[in-house]
Amino acid sequence: MNSIDLLLVSADNALRTLAGGVHASRPCPGQTSEEPLTESDRALSGALMRVNHVGEVCAQALYQAQALTSRSDEVRSRMQTAAREETDHLAWTQRRLQELGDRPSVLNPLWYAGAFAIGLVAGRLGDAVSLGFVVETERQVEQHLAGHLDRLPAADQRSRAIVEQMREDEQRHADLALEAGGNELPGPVRLLMRAAARVMTSTAHRI
Ligand SMILES: [Fe+2]
Ligand SMILES: [Fe+2]
Repeated sequence: MNSIDLLLVSADNALRTLAGGVHASRPCPGQTSEEPLTESDRALSGALMRVNHVGEVCAQALYQAQALTSRSDEVRSRMQTAAREETDHLAWTQRRLQELGDRPSVLNPLWYAGAFAIGLVAGRLGDAVSLGFVVETERQVEQHLAGHLDRLPAADQRSRAIVEQMREDEQRHADLALEAGGNELPGPVRLLMRAAARVMTSTAHRI
């Protein structure tokens, strides 16, 4: 594809992500019958799944921006493959939010724009840094999801099944990016990424 095509694909992805027009290619995990949740469990699950949905909105933006700026076709196609699995995550978390009677973050356009800008910077720094950024992001997301497995209400098996599958996928995304030649990022950069993620997750918990 030439650069105009790539830009159009990116714009299309942004609109789809923000408008909720995405479809999973794999079935949603955990689709068994479920007991009704108490009001407080439902509210907690809704807040946690909204945070995870925001994470997936950001994943779309990051992977799109990094695919746009990648130097080699191989890296670009790896970014696009991972992005397709992220689309499943996005669709699953969106669906679960609906089932819980909750809503996505109203700040999603802002999160998308911020993550896209960060992805462009990472991509411009070259493929080794860009892949290293994927490794670190996916590892942090994986740890974050592990934390959610502790915090999700015990009765909410559906959300748990989704988060477990996402965690497995993120682990694989990190391994693949490392294998493809991702550089380890400097400590201060990793800390900065954690701080940014904290702002995003604590805000998305509420709005
Ligand atoms: Fe994901
Ligand atoms: Fe991922």
